[in-house]
Amino acid sequence: MEVPDADLDPQDEATFRLGQHALVRHHLASIFRSRRGPLTLALALGVAGSAVSLAQPYLLKRILDSLHEPEALRLVLVLAGVALVAACFDAIQQFVVSREAERLVADLRLSLVQKSVRLRMPAYSDARIGDLVTRLTTDASMVRGVLAGGVLDVPGNALVLVGALTMMVVLDPVLSLIVLLGTVVALVSATLASRQIRSQAIVVQQSVGTLGAEYERSVSGIQTVRAWGQEQQLVARMSALIGDARKRGTRIAGVESVLWPVTGLVMHGCIIAVVAVGGSRVELGEISVSDLAAFMLLTFMVIAPFNQLVGTVLELQVAGAALLRLAQIERLPDESDLDSRSTRNASPRESITHPPRASDRAVGPRLVLGSVDFTYGDQLALDGISFDAGPGGVTALVGPSGSGKSTILALLMRFVDPSRGRITMDGEDIADLDPAAVRSQIAFVGQNAEILAGTVRQNLTLGQRTDSVERERTWEVLTRLGLGARLRSANGLDTAVGEHGLQLSGGEKQRLVVARALLSDRPVVLLDEPTSGVDATNEAEILSALAEVPGKTCILVTHRPMAMSSAEKIVLIDAGRVVSVGTHEELLRSDDLYARLNERSSGPRELARRMDAPRSSL
Ligand SMILES: Nc1ncnc2c1ncn2[C@@H]1O[C@H](COP(=O)(O)OP(=O)(O)OP(=O)(O)O)[C@@H](O)[C@H]1O
Ligand SMILES: [Mg+2]
Repeated sequence: MEVPDADLDPQDEATFRLGQHALVRHHLASIFRSRRGPLTLALALGVAGSAVSLAQPYLLKRILDSLHEPEALRLVLVLAGVALVAACFDAIQQFVVSREAERLVADLRLSLVQKSVRLRMPAYSDARIGDLVTRLTTDASMVRGVLAGGVLDVPGNALVLVGALTMMVVLDPVLSLIVLLGTVVALVSATLASRQIRSQAIVVQQSVGTLGAEYERSVSGIQTVRAWGQEQQLVARMSALIGDARKRGTRIAGVESVLWPVTGLVMHGCIIAVVAVGGSRVELGEISVSDLAAFMLLTFMVIAPFNQLVGTVLELQVAGAALLRLAQIERLPDESDLDSRSTRNASPRESITHPPRASDRAVGPRLVLGSVDFTYGDQLALDGISFDAGPGGVTALVGPSGSGKSTILALLMRFVDPSRGRITMDGEDIADLDPAAVRSQIAFVGQNAEILAGTVRQNLTLGQRTDSVERERTWEVLTRLGLGARLRSANGLDTAVGEHGLQLSGGEKQRLVVARALLSDRPVVLLDEPTSGVDATNEAEILSALAEVPGKTCILVTHRPMAMSSAEKIVLIDAGRVVSVGTHEELLRSDDLYARLNERSSGPRELARRMDAPRSSL
């Protein structure tokens, strides 16, 4: 899926990065807002656990001060109790945070799936499916770090840090200066590293997405890759992308591998300095041994939350980069703005929510295109198209390759909308209807005979009001389309079709999608080249089945003379314009282009003759 950060113009980069951060902040805020309850509980448990553990050095000092008194045993028990309570708080908090993190990942995944089925159709024409899958899997699971990366421990850790530093200052201001200085140096290094990681993390995720996209493209075209001996080139291309992702990932690792030793060194330096300076102060009698012991413990208490805070910030940078990639998909335009005209409509008509089905009406609707223009980017594909089809009957759309026939069907389906002109269904502008309501009227057979994985039955019942298509009628249609014997010899309606229908031949797939359209109770049937991959006998079977569908309004895109001649009306399209409208005979007589299209197709008379011949297979 092309998203706004691909191939960024360097001039826009600064503005874009600002936009990115604002977007991530916005999403982070909404994640925390929508989980206020459980997150507040986790936060409170973290703070309470930290507060309880702060009592430990104080108790230790009291124990050391009263080693030979009976009080000591009681204090040891209290210390053990305090440690136990802190551990319990920690365990509950961990569970609450992990549960919320899992919910967050699930919510993000669901929302990505919901969004990706609603995107405007043009978004899919340059869809990078593999990249989308990477976002759904890798990126979404990385966002777990937003909650599980320790962000809810921040207040608790900050409390420990501030509390421990304050106690240090009270205990010994001189020794405290050493620790404070060390903390500031470590903080500056961490801030510099965090900036580096932030800018690298998004690039890493982007290159992982590109890797996924390229892999998906290559594997789904594996037949072409093999047929043209492109295996080595494929591996080389993937290897370059894998190397790129590794290089960028290593950069982050490099920054982290410098940061942690630096902060470790600074903190260890602090401890050595505290031991050396503190030891001499004990010798000079300026502080007691118990003061030094408590101070040492406090120093250790500073190191742990400090490291955790830095770790959390780094984790947030990486999780934020993944979150950004999900937010980018959320921002792509979807079909919800297409139905705005119908939602603005003060009194939505009955047909919008309850469109009549074929079974509820005697004859399919009348479809009218009036001066319709359509452009792909800045390329004009349709230029003032006007014609009408129905009510009922078969209208053929005929024309040279690239003349705009499939585009007309896409407009009728509201996959795209005209840039000018209107399309009406029984007088009602389809732009005023919800796209889903328009589609619920239409049985669509696309040019690529799309079959979903599963069984024949699942493919036939797609989009039906109930899951069961009447058995007798189903077999009647399948037999009429020449599929009866093939399916009976396999598993009947439970025959598996394989991924994208790969267990069927091209022609079988075409006939199956036609059967789906004929069995549906939708009043309009749009067919894009339904006979292109079948032999003349199967073609005749498809056409005769179509002709016998009672009352439906069919629009049939075709290059095949037999199919053209079977239509009651033919609309001839050339270069995005309607050049003639008439019957097969009229156009054969009056239109050179139509006559040429018929001549170029092999043996039209022979095919026509076979169509009229009795069908022994039925
Ligand atoms: N998604 C797209 N983006 C840009 N241009 C497109 C897109 N789809 C189609 N076109 C262009 O629009 C024009 C009409 O295409 P269309 O698919 O409607 O032709 P067609 O009549 O169905 O052709 P064919 O008989 O080969 O299927 C062509 O020039 C095509 O290259
Ligand atoms: Mg086409």
